[in-house]
Amino acid sequence: MTQIHEAGHAANAPSGAPDPGQSLLEVSNLSVRFASVRAVDNVGFSVKRGETLGLVGESGSGKSTAGRAILQITPPTAGSVRFDGVEIAGMPEKQMRPYRRRMQMIFQDPRSSLDSKMRVSQIIGEPLEIHHIGTRAERRERVAELLQLVGLNPTVGVRYPHQFSGGQAQRIAIARALALDPDFLVADEPISALDVSIQAQVVNLLLEIKQTMKLSMIFIAHDLAVVRYISDKIAVMYLGKIVELADKTAFYANPLHPYSQALLSAVPVPDPKRERTRSRVVLSGDMPNPDNPPSGCRFHTRCPLRTMKDNPAICAEEEPLLTGESSGHAVACHFAER
Ligand SMILES: Nc1ncnc2c1ncn2[C@@H]1O[C@H](COP(=O)(O)OP(=O)(O)OP(=O)(O)O)[C@@H](O)[C@H]1O
Ligand SMILES: [Mg+2]
Repeated sequence: MTQIHEAGHAANAPSGAPDPGQSLLEVSNLSVRFASVRAVDNVGFSVKRGETLGLVGESGSGKSTAGRAILQITPPTAGSVRFDGVEIAGMPEKQMRPYRRRMQMIFQDPRSSLDSKMRVSQIIGEPLEIHHIGTRAERRERVAELLQLVGLNPTVGVRYPHQFSGGQAQRIAIARALALDPDFLVADEPISALDVSIQAQVVNLLLEIKQTMKLSMIFIAHDLAVVRYISDKIAVMYLGKIVELADKTAFYANPLHPYSQALLSAVPVPDPKRERTRSRVVLSGDMPNPDNPPSGCRFHTRCPLRTMKDNPAICAEEEPLLTGESSGHAVACHFAER
């Protein structure tokens, strides 16, 4: 890919010494409160360069708020977000500017995230203009290149967003997010508004881009089937908390938290014989009111494991800590068996 004016990321923002094993993103004790709702409550994880974290949980569990707080779109109430070794939580906007270039977001609904009055070439080129990158001719060339990168013909740049299908519109949104050659993406349910038939194409595109551009990514989804393919690590959220955090292989081989097991058991297995015989964990009831979450373990009111253990008091009294991170498989449950 052509670099315009500046060579790589070194010019984009102050950068620590390059260390391939080092985490690009380190989130710790991150919390976001909206009045009495603890939308994100003491959340922590890290994402290495080139790594994708799949962030999963039911509606209202705090996934989008976490993503937005990491990108400093929603100010965190507390906690630390270190990007490339630098604390960006609470950083003044002016200082944040170079980091904004390096961290981009892709939203669920491409149609509402693209300005309907702008031509596609303007939409994709706008971040370059805002950051005064390149001459007009160079920007035009870069836009054509980005359209190609996302599998669209550069000639479509003259059209408007409504002239595209949902899948094509999401490709345009992805091209825009990549315009500044970021090194970190938050993709917030980027395929859930798309037809099932084209979801795989867009996931494949993101996977390809992640590999060629060595991007780090947080991929947010409701469903554990979607993130399996693209993620290296999985974090499961419930009512603002991470209840399980593990490397992908370990997670899918042996999900430890009863909530993760329930989410996974909703995912059909491709093998019809196993699909017929596998056991399912069904959750009772709806997600509790986030305004007034259950005491102790927030999941205890719906927990099938607790029922099997004759409803021990500790679950309602004591909050289980997320432990075991050093082993690559952390879980927050008093009774999960490792
Ligand atoms: N701007 C806001 N003001 C007040 N409350 C908010 C705001 N944004 C989110 N919330 C609340 O914070 C909690 C987490 O919301 P969030 O949108 O992060 O969840 P989510 O996991 O992304 O859900 P979904 O899967 O539906 O997108 C919810 O209880 C929500 O109502
Ligand atoms: Mg959301």
